[in-house]
Amino acid sequence: MSSLTLSSQIDVARTLEGLREKTASWRADRGTIAFVPTMGALHDGHLSLMRLAQTLADHVVASIYVNPTQFAPGEDFEAYPRDFEVDLEKLSGVGVDLAYLPEPDGMYAPDHTTLIRVDGVGEGLETDHRPTFFQGVALIVTKLFNRVQPDVAIFGEKDFQQLAVIRRLVRDLDLPIKIIGAPIARDAHGLALSSRNRYFDEDSLGVARRLNQIMFNAAERLAKGTAAAETSNWAKSALMGAGFSAVDYVTIADPDTLVPLGQLGDTEARVLIAAHCPSPTGPVRLIDNCAVPARD
Ligand code: PAF
Repeated sequence: MSSLTLSSQIDVARTLEGLREKTASWRADRGTIAFVPTMGALHDGHLSLMRLAQTLADHVVASIYVNPTQFAPGEDFEAYPRDFEVDLEKLSGVGVDLAYLPEPDGMYAPDHTTLIRVDGVGEGLETDHRPTFFQGVALIVTKLFNRVQPDVAIFGEKDFQQLAVIRRLVRDLDLPIKIIGAPIARDAHGLALSSRNRYFDEDSLGVARRLNQIMFNAAERLAKGTAAAETSNWAKSALMGAGFSAVDYVTIADPDTLVPLGQLGDTEARVLIAAHCPSPTGPVRLIDNCAVPARD
């Protein structure tokens, strides 16, 4: 990243001092700050978060940092797509005021030892398959919040459990930041936009797009009174039949606590899915989720 040439129009901070100088000048004029943390590889879903951010505060800061502590050994940290020049152009195009691209060496002290673990909403689902993922997310998000000190921060609902973890973290640590969840951006076939969708060719894209159809069908089954276990089993076999190579979970849960439900009741529920879709470069793990309205 040190070879990054910053030819785009947008203001870029690479150091904490540069970031603080800018945010302090805004605050001196009583300006409010909205923050959108990202790992780059920006797509239209990210850009919709930036546009939402602009409606919520006077200034928008977006960060780009591929956070090593949320990747387990064997996951795609090294291969994670990095194209910071293109990302900066995109941020500039949607009117973000400041891009914060911390130098990798300046983020974690080599002997850092502090961990943040969010129990409850941070257990089960993703944690069953990526045990240290939310510890990595909680740590980096807390550090970024402390650095940017935003009034409001925006996270996509696609990472629904991550959003729940961050809400709980902010509440439990008394962080004075309003957390906003933004709706999932989808392509014309309903596939949730993701940085990893770029790995698909035409055939695998066809399989990937079945995920949302099966998920919405599962939501309809629940709404008609089918039990959660039966719906989940149906969706798992539908996914395997559609060409997915493995299904990590299809869970119907309370949207606030993420506790699994047996049946749709008189409050809203959430269908949450993670499944592996074959691609020319190997299986791509997809996650998606949708709301199921309460029964009348
Ligand atoms: O959702 C993401 O892109 C990342 O988990 C986040 C919140 C930027 C932390 O690295």
